[in-house]
Amino acid sequence: MTKPPVGTNRTGRKLGQKVKKGKLKASSRRWLERHINDPYVQRAKLEGYRARAAFKLLEIDEKHELLKGARRIIDLGAAPGSWSQIAANITGSTDDDIRVAAIDFLDMAPLAGVKVLQLDFLDPDAPRLLMDSIGGAPNVVLSDMAAPTTGHQKTDHLRTMHLCEVAAYFAVEVLAEGGHFLAKTFQGGTERDLLNMLKQNFRQVIHVKPGASRQESVEMFLLAKHFKGRKPGELPPQPDHASEQDLNVDDERNHGDSWDNDDERDRSSP
Ligand SMILES: C[S@@+](CC[C@H](N)C(=O)[O-])C[C@H]1O[C@@H](n2cnc3c(N)ncnc32)[C@H](O)[C@@H]1O
Repeated sequence: MTKPPVGTNRTGRKLGQKVKKGKLKASSRRWLERHINDPYVQRAKLEGYRARAAFKLLEIDEKHELLKGARRIIDLGAAPGSWSQIAANITGSTDDDIRVAAIDFLDMAPLAGVKVLQLDFLDPDAPRLLMDSIGGAPNVVLSDMAAPTTGHQKTDHLRTMHLCEVAAYFAVEVLAEGGHFLAKTFQGGTERDLLNMLKQNFRQVIHVKPGASRQESVEMFLLAKHFKGRKPGELPPQPDHASEQDLNVDDERNHGDSWDNDDERDRSSP
């Protein structure tokens, strides 16, 4: 590959571009500047991914091998669809043999091999519709769901943590034995009861922070690997909403990895 010119990145576009002062609010201008200068946004365009979020999943997968060999995948909070793109590719899903189901209450452009449901995951029909779409137990449940921001950070965090919890209980209910669960969470935000439930049901539970996750945000991912499976007749666990926030869980930070943060929706234009 030819080298990009000095002062540009691999797309040949200059980094450090400023957005002219005009009608935009200062905060919107700052967001736009950061977005157009973000190397992951530009890489997503170059590599044909719908969002920079693709690189979070790819990095986590490279290190923790959660997608390897997966035949069926469910993607919660999927729009605009970069994780579903990766999932369809990994599973070899096609429109004739759909192995990936994606859900988001936002509209998402169709993707080959992906059954897209435009629906709130908290809708009581969502679990059944997702499972009906892929015709068998998923090997991986992914959740990048982030609650729409209200401007009140604590409320936003609590709502996203609730989505993480509902996703975790769903994963335990539907995963194939040996399967994996990955969900967006926040630093210090995962409740002890949820971690305990995951530890009882998976062989390994860790928090991960991929490099593509922005330095300045508190976003992290909860990764639960190797689902132990359900005993015949065993009822799935139910949430019981404790408020403890103690994290008695392996954390990559304790093993010398570099960490940073990210709690926003990350979108690159398609
Ligand atoms: C960070 S974005 C996901 C990006 C996606 N992983 C990708 O790679 O393109 C989070 C998404 O979660 C969705 N979301 C949040 N709450 C949801 C809910 N209750 N049901 C369905 N989708 C939800 C939002 O609409 C948003 O599109």
